[in-house]
Amino acid sequence: MDKKNLPNDLYDIIAALTLKNKEQFQDIVNVVINALKEKDQYTQGHSVRVIEFSVKIGHEIGLNEEDIRSLEIASVLHDIGKLGVPDKILKKPGRLTKEEYQIMQQHSANGEKLLDGIKNLEKYKKYIRAHHERYDGFGYPDGLKGNDIPLISRIIFVADTFDAMTSDRPYRKGLPIEAAIDELIKCSGTQFDPYVVEAFLNVLRKEQEELNKEAV
Ligand SMILES: [Fe+2]
Repeated sequence: MDKKNLPNDLYDIIAALTLKNKEQFQDIVNVVINALKEKDQYTQGHSVRVIEFSVKIGHEIGLNEEDIRSLEIASVLHDIGKLGVPDKILKKPGRLTKEEYQIMQQHSANGEKLLDGIKNLEKYKKYIRAHHERYDGFGYPDGLKGNDIPLISRIIFVADTFDAMTSDRPYRKGLPIEAAIDELIKCSGTQFDPYVVEAFLNVLRKEQEELNKEAV
């Protein structure tokens, strides 16, 4: 918004409204994160990191501000369907049975359903539904392939999987970053969109360079 094109009063009103919306948005984000925390300590920290990674990838790809905003909101909400997954499955220490895995997989479609009828969140439903679709078409729930999967969902999927791989769980230690990067590269073009993987590797490379600079 360019102040010089607007009368002062109008500028102030718009600025105040924008601020109010930002605060409201942050409140909503916090409610979702708290709800997920209640459900599972891991899911809370995980959600926060997925938001951060996703937004960094979005900037690296050069998404416009509106798409970054959508990416941020979709990242916040992406696992909201896990609220409907029974604790004994969500927190099971170890491998899920086939039946349990099928129930777990329902969380992306259930997340979409939770947004039913909420007008301002309608456009995010498809992103949440598709956040476990694989680039090669073997993901769920719809088996979408390649660019038929919304870009925002492809970004969240990479951020989500990377964080899941590198996080410690009660029953296993997280992978070292280098091993998780190798896994991303190995699955680029099958599980993940290669374009998104490349962008994420650039983000990680730049962050490492920054850290190296600080260490000198
Ligand atoms: Fe998920």
